[in-house]
Amino acid sequence: MDILSHLEKLPKDVQAAVRNNGGGYYNHNLYFASLAAHPKKVPSGELLDKINATFGNVDALKVQLTNAATKQFGSGWAWLSKNKNGDLKVTSSPNQDNPLMETSGEWTPILGIDVWEHAYYLKHRNLRGDYIKDFFEVLDWQVVEDNYNK
Ligand SMILES: [Fe+2]
Repeated sequence: MDILSHLEKLPKDVQAAVRNNGGGYYNHNLYFASLAAHPKKVPSGELLDKINATFGNVDALKVQLTNAATKQFGSGWAWLSKNKNGDLKVTSSPNQDNPLMETSGEWTPILGIDVWEHAYYLKHRNLRGDYIKDFFEVLDWQVVEDNYNK
């Protein structure tokens, strides 16, 4: 995490490789860890309170995440991130970038949606919207909560 938050401290000739490979590793770990066959379907506790205070309710958050994921042009990710105050925000990134890189570690992703075409093409072809709908069916909010409470 520290490395991804401060790529500028690495030698110039390895920055791109760490950004793409290190980012890809970190992002996919977060993504696959959040998927479950029998997921917790709704968030609770402090995270739920913060979602309600920030976005209105969970469905409104899902709309924002879906918009971020749908509008990300080409390959990339949509994120729900937190800062050290426990604030929440929704963003998107191109390629294997993530909020750690983009904010020097100020914002840490707690939920990521892979919208590279390889994430959904086999099952959904080019229908990114259908994939995002299905993603929420297998998203385990317990994992997102654990990430938030870390
Ligand atoms: Fe991917």
